[in-house]
Amino acid sequence: MSAPLPMPLPTQEFDYAKLRARAMASLFEAFDSLCEGTVMVDRNARVVWINERYAARFGIADARQAIGKEIEEIIPTSLMREVVRTGRPLLLDILDVEGETFVVTRIPLKDERGDVIGAIGFALYDKLQPLQPFYARLHKLQHQLAQTQQHLAAERRAKYTFTNYIGNSPAATQVKQQARRAARLDTTVLLLGETGTGKELLAHAIHAASTRADRSFVGFNVAAIPENLLEAECFGAVAGAYTGAEKKARIGKFELANGGTLFLDEIGDMPLTLQAKLLRVLQENEVEPLGSNKVVKIDVRVIAATSRDLKADVAAGRFRADLYYRLNVLTIQLPALRERSEDFGPLCDHILEQIAARTRLTLRELDPAALALLQRCRWPGNIRELRNVLEQACMLADGPRLGEADIRGIVAPSEIAAGETAPAAARAAALGTYDEALAEFERDLIARTLQACGGKVTAAAKRLGLGRATLYKKIAALGIASRD
Ligand SMILES: Nc1ncnc2c1ncn2[C@@H]1O[C@H](COP(=O)(O)OP(=O)(O)OP(=O)(O)O)[C@@H](O)[C@H]1O
Ligand SMILES: [Mg+2]
Repeated sequence: MSAPLPMPLPTQEFDYAKLRARAMASLFEAFDSLCEGTVMVDRNARVVWINERYAARFGIADARQAIGKEIEEIIPTSLMREVVRTGRPLLLDILDVEGETFVVTRIPLKDERGDVIGAIGFALYDKLQPLQPFYARLHKLQHQLAQTQQHLAAERRAKYTFTNYIGNSPAATQVKQQARRAARLDTTVLLLGETGTGKELLAHAIHAASTRADRSFVGFNVAAIPENLLEAECFGAVAGAYTGAEKKARIGKFELANGGTLFLDEIGDMPLTLQAKLLRVLQENEVEPLGSNKVVKIDVRVIAATSRDLKADVAAGRFRADLYYRLNVLTIQLPALRERSEDFGPLCDHILEQIAARTRLTLRELDPAALALLQRCRWPGNIRELRNVLEQACMLADGPRLGEADIRGIVAPSEIAAGETAPAAARAAALGTYDEALAEFERDLIARTLQACGGKVTAAAKRLGLGRATLYKKIAALGIASRD
């Protein structure tokens, strides 16, 4: 048996209570002196006391005027009422007041029975030395967030306007007129045209000239996304709702574009199952993210584009007729480059200027003969292909002018219109084995297709009717340069 504990003397008991009371008072004073602001409320969240300095922050000259007022009348974003209601402290929070940041601590005040009778809040100013590490971290994160948001906003702004669509030929003028009209209306737009004719450029320009210009422009390339992720990318998904590599929640492109414009590129490549869902979204103006049973109202202008023959796809059952009619409200057919030969001069000048600006090389000029030769080419890859040819010519040629020979060295003879006296290609001269000739043929076909597709293997594979992996193997085996 241990010895009984000595009973405290009554005088000692009195001292403990006194000390405790003193400790509480000291703590309060210490906090109060460190703090930019101290505020106390009663159980109805009415101000009981506020220090002068804090009151002044909220535009109250005499702190006594605040007494008895609802806390939100003084500090609109205060959470003191919640502390009183729940009886739980909010130990560390951040409060922004007129461009300044405070760390705030809110503690409930309780009576002897434990009932909440009010709350006290302390606001620590960010100049306070002991809070430096915390604030340094916070400011860094805020800075990163601001930068990321800026970046995103820039990403979602239109990159082109109508002035970027070069050409004054009747065909180009008509396209610009139609696109300007489309910009004024708020309907769905369908852009049709061969690869490289400027569909993406025009989509940006339409958005930039529309009433939605200051809102997001979100691009979504249907062909570039694996089919199993397409639905989640497009319409969004809650966490774990789809079987991708990652199962994170996703905001769909429709929601991202809300209030702005959604550019649905390569719409002709959308699988039939998703076409039905897309049609519903366009008709109802709402999306239901995968795995969620909530619908989100959306206000999005859709600009769709494809280089496929959508009508033929409808006839062949590859594209839903009802979706086609829903998209085909205001359709703009972009002319191929060979249909607007008048535009070659201005287009080449424009592209050469862009090349000079980007590469910081001297600005090249085209000889009339070189221009004439370019005009006679077929350009299946349209302006993108023209740009590639001019880029290569600029890199290979020495002088300030690009001559006919500089161009002829780059474009494949078969691309030049019949009647042209292209020198018999050197490669045709060497008669080799069947295998050598076949390899030569493959190399030429693949190289030209890649060139027409701007070096994009995926696009080239599609055009050739080959699998991407097969094309990659051939490219490696034949030693052809590709971009991706
Ligand atoms: N009228 C034009 N004036 C100047 N540049 C243009 C014009 N049209 C297209 N371009 C340029 O040609 C390139 C291809 O254009 P864009 O990407 O808009 O074509 P696209 O029709 O979307 O092609 P794809 O079907 O292959 O996606 C871009 O570099 C674009 O800036
Ligand atoms: Mg495009």
